[in-house]
Amino acid sequence: MYFAVFLSALALSATTFALDNGLMRTPPMGWLAWERFRCDIDCTDDPKNCISEDLFIDMADRLSEDGWRELGYVYVNIDDCWSSKQRDEKGRLQADPKRFPGGIPKLSRYLHDRGLKLGIYGDMGTLTCGGYPGTPLDKIEIDAQTFADWEVDMFKFDGCYSNETVQEKGYPLMSKALNATGRPIGYSCSWPAYQGGLPPKVNYTQLGEICNLWRNYGDIQDSWGSVVSIVDWFFDNQEVLIPAAGPGRWNDPDMLIIGDFALSMDQSRSQMALWAIMAAPLFMSNDLRTISSGARSILQNKMVISINQDPLGIQGRRILKEKSNIQVFWRPLSDGASALVFFSRRSDMPYRYKTSLKKLNYTTGSYKVYDVFTDKTTTLKDSTDFVVSVNPSGVVMWHVSAPAKLNQRHFDRRGNAMESVFGGDENAIPRVFL
Ligand SMILES: *[C@@H]1O[C@H](CO)[C@@H](O)[C@H](O)[C@H]1NC(C)=O
Ligand SMILES: *[C@@H]1O[C@H](CO)[C@@H](O)[C@H](O)[C@H]1NC(C)=O
Ligand SMILES: *[C@@H]1O[C@H](CO)[C@@H](O)[C@H](O)[C@H]1NC(C)=O
Ligand SMILES: *[C@@H]1O[C@H](CO)[C@@H](O)[C@H](O)[C@H]1NC(C)=O
Repeated sequence: MYFAVFLSALALSATTFALDNGLMRTPPMGWLAWERFRCDIDCTDDPKNCISEDLFIDMADRLSEDGWRELGYVYVNIDDCWSSKQRDEKGRLQADPKRFPGGIPKLSRYLHDRGLKLGIYGDMGTLTCGGYPGTPLDKIEIDAQTFADWEVDMFKFDGCYSNETVQEKGYPLMSKALNATGRPIGYSCSWPAYQGGLPPKVNYTQLGEICNLWRNYGDIQDSWGSVVSIVDWFFDNQEVLIPAAGPGRWNDPDMLIIGDFALSMDQSRSQMALWAIMAAPLFMSNDLRTISSGARSILQNKMVISINQDPLGIQGRRILKEKSNIQVFWRPLSDGASALVFFSRRSDMPYRYKTSLKKLNYTTGSYKVYDVFTDKTTTLKDSTDFVVSVNPSGVVMWHVSAPAKLNQRHFDRRGNAMESVFGGDENAIPRVFL
């Protein structure tokens, strides 16, 4: 299929309704506690890493002082295990007073003073996944109001210890309850992940109307295998998932684990590049106090972030799975630009992949190509063969400008570009990008 056709079809589907709270017109960005810090509540033996006020204040300080906030990383999201095991005398959730002595309002003030936003976590069931009080149907209104009173900006609604019937009622009900508080609160639904992530069980039209983002698939873990299994699932099911996404409503393949223990630098670039292609929310789950400069520069790469945040909000797709184990991904961007990712699933050595923009179905023209991770720029005619060298489990990522029209004088009478005026480089040694 030709990309011009794709683009108009997708642009149409992107205008269908999104949750009407005006939020998250581009994928939300920030930091989320879960993958890195889990349910560590041992503040006696592990004070630096336990789920506590201090941890979130530390991360807020890092986001605001180390250049993250200016790039768009503004959410600081609490996950499970923040609350007391008991509701208060008025039936409201309350933070564990030992670990959050100032309560949630102190944290939200601290964040708002620094231009950051606060996210919090709840669960549809009788208990959260970690065994803390859940938000069953009859608690939805009071909990939504409590979060609004605390000036929370985002809410993730998990689904442990609930069932299908309860979820079907509860996820839409919470959407209504959050709206009724009058406070714009970004709404992250774990619902589809509990339904297998696919139609007919999952209704992505409905999800887009009630949630800003949703977890489609299992939790990410600190391993390359986990990243790869998520990538495969999302792109194997891209025909279902792509039309579901758009401004205000996003598929969420889960947190970035860049800066943790498992990923090499190449694998870290791969996660970042593929999350940008997927128009995924960018929630880091790492320790910003001790992150390496290598991981930081990948997460702070301005071009990848701008691709992720493209205002059209069209989720990209896998366009090729080569026998060589190179896969090619493509995402259309505003102003006729696009992003390309060449991803190696090989395990031997850097692979020299040869193709041309024409073979990737780009229309006739001359393109400015910017290599996102090396900062190199070049100009490529659609028909020019080139070679990218892709490291094992690594990527090469390009931002490709809109095509510049080939100069009039260079067309023949029927409007076909005359190859010879470009130096007849079809058989020349292909360009190499390293
Ligand atoms: C290019 O378009 C053709 C014709 O629609 C299609 O068969 C082919 O798979 C496309 N190639 C890529 C890389 O998308
Ligand atoms: C609530 O929903 C209405 C109607 O969809 C919308 O106009 C309004 O902005 C929403 N308010 C909040 C706080 O989300
Ligand atoms: C689902 O959970 C609700 C509330 O716990 C319970 O009343 C209902 O019987 C359950 N339904 C099924 C089908 O298990
Ligand atoms: C999915 O949800 C939409 C919007 O809520 C609704 O109009 C449609 O009927 C639903 N589709 C199915 C198959 O239930």
